[in-house]
Amino acid sequence: MPAAVETEELTKRYPKVEALRGVSLRIEQGEIFALLGPNGAGKTTWISIVCGLTRASSGHARVLEHDVARAPLDARRQLGLVPQEINFDPFFTPREVLRFQLGYYGLPPDEARIDEVLFALTLADKADVNARELSGGMKRRLLIAKALVHRPRVVFLDEPTAGVDVTLRRELWAYVRTLRAGGTTIVLTTHYLEEAEELADRVAVIDHGRLISLDRPSALLASHGRRQVLFTLGAPIDRALPEKLAALGVTVDASGTQLTCPLRASDLSTVLAEVAALPAPIVDMRTEQPSLEQVFLTLTGGRA
Ligand SMILES: Nc1ncnc2c1ncn2[C@@H]1O[C@H](COP(=O)(O)OP(=O)(O)OP(=O)(O)O)[C@@H](O)[C@H]1O
Ligand SMILES: [Mg+2]
Repeated sequence: MPAAVETEELTKRYPKVEALRGVSLRIEQGEIFALLGPNGAGKTTWISIVCGLTRASSGHARVLEHDVARAPLDARRQLGLVPQEINFDPFFTPREVLRFQLGYYGLPPDEARIDEVLFALTLADKADVNARELSGGMKRRLLIAKALVHRPRVVFLDEPTAGVDVTLRRELWAYVRTLRAGGTTIVLTTHYLEEAEELADRVAVIDHGRLISLDRPSALLASHGRRQVLFTLGAPIDRALPEKLAALGVTVDASGTQLTCPLRASDLSTVLAEVAALPAPIVDMRTEQPSLEQVFLTLTGGRA
């Protein structure tokens, strides 16, 4: 099966910055793929090249085997893009915006399809108002509707849920899953790591224009995540930690009341017994599960 999206050694040099320094990625058909990275990492640049809005300095990009530089129209027809910035004319209504969009793709006006997409994005009751009357979150939904109306096989969502409320964000996630169930490939960028963890089959982390990690979220968590247990003591311990605790990797903070212990599945009872044997009482205890956020901060050196 051909890749949904493939880039080979993609580079982009702007006069003052190398936005991409050789990014090779293969995204399979039917995947939900998340692109993560700090501000300025190169995510939007990568998407812009793949979607034919920016030219690469070198390297290749293909969408379902269509080279975006050599067969831009064929590539463009397969994809839908939800850009990071709002880009529709505020004087048109959502319905008109979608009609024009079909027109750009050489498709006849299809009111049934337009109604379906407006309904799916909870915009049915705003179909005929001026787009400038829409709230920020509604504008973002209209952008998504615009990217989907021509039934693209690969959809790029550049921060689709920035500024979208929690309920709607969850609705959008559900909709992304529905799209995928229908065979659409989804590539998204997000700064909400919970979103990537929840939705993505695979996650790529880009930093300074380079791919620094690519894996399934569970594999990233297993290889970079930490599970640890944190104890708060009712009084500071004034001496060094007992040898047994030190050997388990337990550390104590400057206040002498916070103990942190890296957790391997087997040794929790030993840790508990040793901490309980300390002269100070335990007043709080919690375990910290590894999160993609933690992994991301580790990989990018905490700059995000
Ligand atoms: N049109 C442009 N001209 C010059 N430099 C640009 C241009 N577009 C982007 N850049 C630079 O390229 C680098 C990558 O930017 P890009 O927009 O791809 O980052 P990003 O990963 O999408 O960041 P964010 O999370 O903030 O959206 C940045 O240093 C940015 O300043
Ligand atoms: Mg961006």
